[in-house]
Amino acid sequence: MVQSGPFVHTAFVLLLLIPGTLAWGKEGHYATCKIAEGLFCEETATAVQALLPEYAEGDFASLCSWADEIKWHKRWSSPLHYVDTPDFRCNYEYCRDCHDTVGRKDRCVTGAIYNYSMQLLDYHQPFSEYADNLTEALLFLSHFIGDVHQPLHVGFLGDEGGNTIHLRWYRRKSNLHHVWDTMIIESAIKEFYASDLAIMIRAIQRNITDDWSSDISMWENCAANHTACPDPYASESVRLACKYAYKNATPGSTLNDDYFLSRLPIVERRLAQGGVRLAATLNRIFASQKLSAQA
Ligand SMILES: *[C@@H]1O[C@H](CO)[C@@H](O)[C@H](O)[C@H]1NC(C)=O
Ligand SMILES: *[C@@H]1O[C@H](CO)[C@@H](O)[C@H](O)[C@H]1NC(C)=O
Ligand SMILES: *[C@@H]1O[C@H](CO)[C@@H](O)[C@H](O)[C@H]1NC(C)=O
Ligand SMILES: *[C@@H]1O[C@H](CO)[C@@H](O)[C@H](O)[C@H]1NC(C)=O
Repeated sequence: MVQSGPFVHTAFVLLLLIPGTLAWGKEGHYATCKIAEGLFCEETATAVQALLPEYAEGDFASLCSWADEIKWHKRWSSPLHYVDTPDFRCNYEYCRDCHDTVGRKDRCVTGAIYNYSMQLLDYHQPFSEYADNLTEALLFLSHFIGDVHQPLHVGFLGDEGGNTIHLRWYRRKSNLHHVWDTMIIESAIKEFYASDLAIMIRAIQRNITDDWSSDISMWENCAANHTACPDPYASESVRLACKYAYKNATPGSTLNDDYFLSRLPIVERRLAQGGVRLAATLNRIFASQKLSAQA
């Protein structure tokens, strides 16, 4: 996604002209939500179905890019897709970093994850002052938990999370942010997964149940039994941004096999973590309500 700034209008026009530049790209968000869906407990699956708008026809993952699609119409939401750290700082701190370009606190991806998970906790209290539109809360939350796992959604302020680092992805002109949102995933689907996103998703799911199974409870864990805990995800992202995304990706460079093949496993693991954590967060939200409803 393109971060907001003085040139948002130009960027918007360009985005309309270039198909497939919004988002993690559509594929990344779809994968995150598809992986999450497979891990919903029963209460969560029921609540999500009840909240989905009719036009989704029950397909949760198909609406995982909704927050990108409405970003230009609901302009206030565009700073909620990312958080920037000061230049060359490879750590993240909520109080220092979570604000928008004019300094309003909490207006960043981690702040938004807290916001929308709090709103969803009111699912069974329809007259709550927070329960503005819980369908939108679900769609925002699902999208932002994906975004916070994309390393360059927690990148440096000066280069707008890699958006202003212009370079080539093989022979195509691109920018570093877009490479991580979209190009690595699209190239992988084409090269390794018979041009079929579903095959890529199944490969990641297999790793979740096999190779990574011993890591899952750590991924799901939320400190001090909180409902949502996006801060450690953002810290991981900026560390990965420094170690893998920015490394050897200077303005004007050309990224090819060396970069692609070494970064793809990082991307696949982040998609897995995003999916596992989205499911864990929604399961905590909807299962806890069942408990309090019974109390
Ligand atoms: C919280 O959610 C409401 C409703 O969508 C929105 O108006 C507000 O800007 C959000 N704030 C943050 C920090 O996400
Ligand atoms: C809630 O938001 C969804 C998605 O934008 C929309 O389709 C629906 O009409 C909204 N519901 C209300 C009651 O405003
Ligand atoms: C599966 O896990 C292995 C070991 O961590 C890794 O090398 C491989 O890239 C992963 N594949 C996918 C599709 O995530
Ligand atoms: C978290 O919840 C578990 C199980 O309910 C409890 O044993 C543990 O003490 C709690 N941890 C914290 C830090 O509250």
